[in-house]
Amino acid sequence: MSLRDLLENKLPDEELLLVPQGFEVIGDIAIIIIPPSLDYKKNIIAQALMSHRQDIRSILRKISKLESEKRIGDFELLLGSSTETIHRENGCIFHLDIAKTFFSGKLAYERARIAESVRDGEDILVLFAGVGPFLIQIKKKRNVNITGIESNPVACAYLRKNALANNIDTGIILGDANSAGNLFKKKFDRIVMPTPYGHDHFLNVSSTVLKPGGLVHFYTFKKDFEIGHFKRVLEERGWKINFIRNCGAVAPRVNRYVFDLQLH
Ligand SMILES: C[S@@+](CC[C@H](N)C(=O)[O-])C[C@H]1O[C@@H](n2cnc3c(N)ncnc32)[C@H](O)[C@@H]1O
Repeated sequence: MSLRDLLENKLPDEELLLVPQGFEVIGDIAIIIIPPSLDYKKNIIAQALMSHRQDIRSILRKISKLESEKRIGDFELLLGSSTETIHRENGCIFHLDIAKTFFSGKLAYERARIAESVRDGEDILVLFAGVGPFLIQIKKKRNVNITGIESNPVACAYLRKNALANNIDTGIILGDANSAGNLFKKKFDRIVMPTPYGHDHFLNVSSTVLKPGGLVHFYTFKKDFEIGHFKRVLEERGWKINFIRNCGAVAPRVNRYVFDLQLH
């Protein structure tokens, strides 16, 4: 049932139209967007959702876009007492704090797809590892050497906790992905890059630590009309494009895309 359906008898029609249909659930926390004009109805909206979903313990209102480098939004806790939760995805568990670390359940399919495509024995680097969803799901499925780099100390602490909770052995580096070229003596078979918005230049960093013929899963944000030009730029820079997928909208007319790339 959509959020709008839940509010049908609680808000007049003109206000109902302002409520987004959907909401995201991470662990036992629901994340909703309420427009400023409905500020005075926020508690009614939160209560309606809470009484419908027995599995939800907190309701968070997302205030800002995920603009900072840490990719964290501002949130208002409308109901419940905590922004920390445990989220389950593809057989793994993730401790995280929605107000302090980035996490999007919308990438669950991608994480399963990448983990499935990995072969035992690969050396893998995950740039922008966050609390570990790509890294942990790959290591859980395949016998690989895998290392994550993450610059947010809070996300990094959760990543360590999640590695233990999922019983996996991994390298974890609290640091800046810009310095990847200086951090490793070896090169990698595969690099996973859930890149923050507007940071496409990190693709150049990845090519300095990738084996010839190595693979990169590069996540980026584009408008549909930008894709043709971006493909040409990638090819000019020596990347072979093996696969492209639209992973869904993140803003009006802006989608998250994954490009599976191979270095010639
Ligand atoms: C889009 S999130 C992806 C997080 C996680 N991999 C996931 O899929 O949920 C980007 C992550 O990159 C981190 N980050 C941003 N800039 C960074 C940098 N220069 N070096 C390392 N990590 C960075 C942020 O703290 C954030 O956790």
